[in-house]
Amino acid sequence: MSCLREMHLDDLFKFNTLVFDPFTEVYRLSFFMRHLAQWPELAVAAITPHGQLAGFIFGKFQPGMDDTDMHGHVCALTVEMHFRRLGVASLLMNHFAQMLDYKNAWYVDLYLRCSNESAYKLYCSLGYCLRRVLLEYYPGDPDEDAYDMRKPLAIDVQQTSLLHASRQAVHLPSDEESDDDYN
Ligand SMILES: CC(C)(COP(=O)(O)OP(=O)(O)OC[C@H]1O[C@@H](n2cnc3c(N)ncnc32)[C@H](O)[C@@H]1OP(=O)(O)O)[C@@H](O)C(=O)NCCC(=O)NCCS
Repeated sequence: MSCLREMHLDDLFKFNTLVFDPFTEVYRLSFFMRHLAQWPELAVAAITPHGQLAGFIFGKFQPGMDDTDMHGHVCALTVEMHFRRLGVASLLMNHFAQMLDYKNAWYVDLYLRCSNESAYKLYCSLGYCLRRVLLEYYPGDPDEDAYDMRKPLAIDVQQTSLLHASRQAVHLPSDEESDDDYN
């Protein structure tokens, strides 16, 4: 049984083992600092009864152009190897969505590597829908495409935020932020 709490600054120095996973996106310290300072309620840690860090989620709140574009974005989610398949990621993701419901956000979205099957299954199990494929989103050798997934939140009863889910493959438009813009 894990409990959730907001991340503390010194947690940043405790999750080295979490970030060695090849599917865990690693950002610079300034990225994490900015998130802790700007959206502390969207930077959440799962803690075991023995006080170990079992996982974390980081995200941001984006006001958007109008009310229906107000949304949250998950930037990083990871669960320590020994605590996987116990529902920790689902707990973190559901809590994240609830925090956004309190802000009257319309939807939550995220990007993941197309090769990340576990994460894709996780997000499908939580009701996220594939919206589009972002070509060469992750730099590397070779670059890797990303799935852009989205889930309507409680306020969006008609699921209008899924209306433009084309599932097409496109490059990230220049007026949209990548997660890396915060590095
Ligand atoms: C993906 C990840 C976050 C899942 O964390 P988790 O705590 O194990 O996930 P949960 O226990 O909440 O899983 C919920 C459901 O997701 C799906 N799922 C999760 N991991 C899976 C896996 N390895 N294989 C298949 N399905 C999986 C299952 O449907 C699972 O339900 P079930 O266990 O009842 O079958 C974890 O494997 C991880 O940290 N991976 C490395 C980092 C990463 O990929 N982060 C996401 C980047 S976008």
